[in-house]
Amino acid sequence: MSRDISTVGVVGLGTMGAGIVEVLARAGLTVVGVDVSAEAVARGRARIAESTTRAAARGKLTEEQQRDIFERVTLGTDLTSVVSADLVLEAIPEQLAHKQALFAELDKICGPDTILATNTSSLSVTELSVATTRSSRVVGLHFFNPAPVMKLVEVIRTVVTEPDVLADVVALAERLGKSPVVAGDRAGFIANGLLFAYLNHAASMYEQKYATREDIDAAMRFGCGLPMGPLAVLDLVGIDTAYEILEQMYRQSRDRLHAPAPILKQMRTAGLLGRKSGRGFYTYEQAGSPVVV
Ligand code: 3HC
Repeated sequence: MSRDISTVGVVGLGTMGAGIVEVLARAGLTVVGVDVSAEAVARGRARIAESTTRAAARGKLTEEQQRDIFERVTLGTDLTSVVSADLVLEAIPEQLAHKQALFAELDKICGPDTILATNTSSLSVTELSVATTRSSRVVGLHFFNPAPVMKLVEVIRTVVTEPDVLADVVALAERLGKSPVVAGDRAGFIANGLLFAYLNHAASMYEQKYATREDIDAAMRFGCGLPMGPLAVLDLVGIDTAYEILEQMYRQSRDRLHAPAPILKQMRTAGLLGRKSGRGFYTYEQAGSPVVV
């Protein structure tokens, strides 16, 4: 049976989770955000504050609207606070075992009608769904970075997802002002399935010193009209996340286009994670544009 989604729980307040909390609250939903530690919650709150302050400075939000957003959002470390949510979305790091354990826990905490959703970009939604006793009420709900800006949301159905659940989640995405697309459960879904072979190839090209990072990025911006070059996109996504996505896609597809370029693993190990760590292919000021060093 179809239901209106008005309260949403978000577990994980990293780059994506915090962005998603903002999107939900801006659309008027009540949001409960949870992360594992007070520090992680504080970082999540700071991300939302920074993003909404930027929107206010650009005249996209009034100060009152910014305040209203925070009034609709409750952030904390207690997972049971999502108990009354109509839908709970997890946005924790891409580790299957962790996500399965979280889904099993949410399955116990939440009422039987609550929809459980994952923002995974490459793990199997089906494998996550079977960690619960409600696999027909589990979907993928995959946002793009930066979540407040990118219009696409991929809604992933498994072979057992109830059509009503799918329809409710598509309706939610539309209410958020997004353009939802529906896809089956395959690593990378539609957009990452196409995008990451290209990003990986760009990292290889840079690794082979075929061209500079600036020229690789400039070629795609000025030759193909893309808003950002591929190495800047990798820094935006996060090198650790990009590596995990490629690994998962390669494991499933065995397509060598998805075999992660060695430089990505080296950068991940060395902590060059892109924007979030201040250095990736480029070096960043706090949250600003690349500083060329
Ligand atoms: N958070 C919130 N808002 C942001 C933001 C951020 N991190 N970065 C930019 N914005 C907002 C700005 O406030 C501005 O809003 P406004 O139009 O309402 O005033 C708008 O975005 C445009 O920003 P700018 O004018 O500063 O800069 P650009 O015009 O260069 O746009 C961009 C920035 C939207 C990031 C654009 O460069 C872009 O679309 N880049 C490509 C991003 C991309 O490819 N994302 C997909 C990554 S893959 C992925 O996410 C999948 C996942 O599974 C890993």
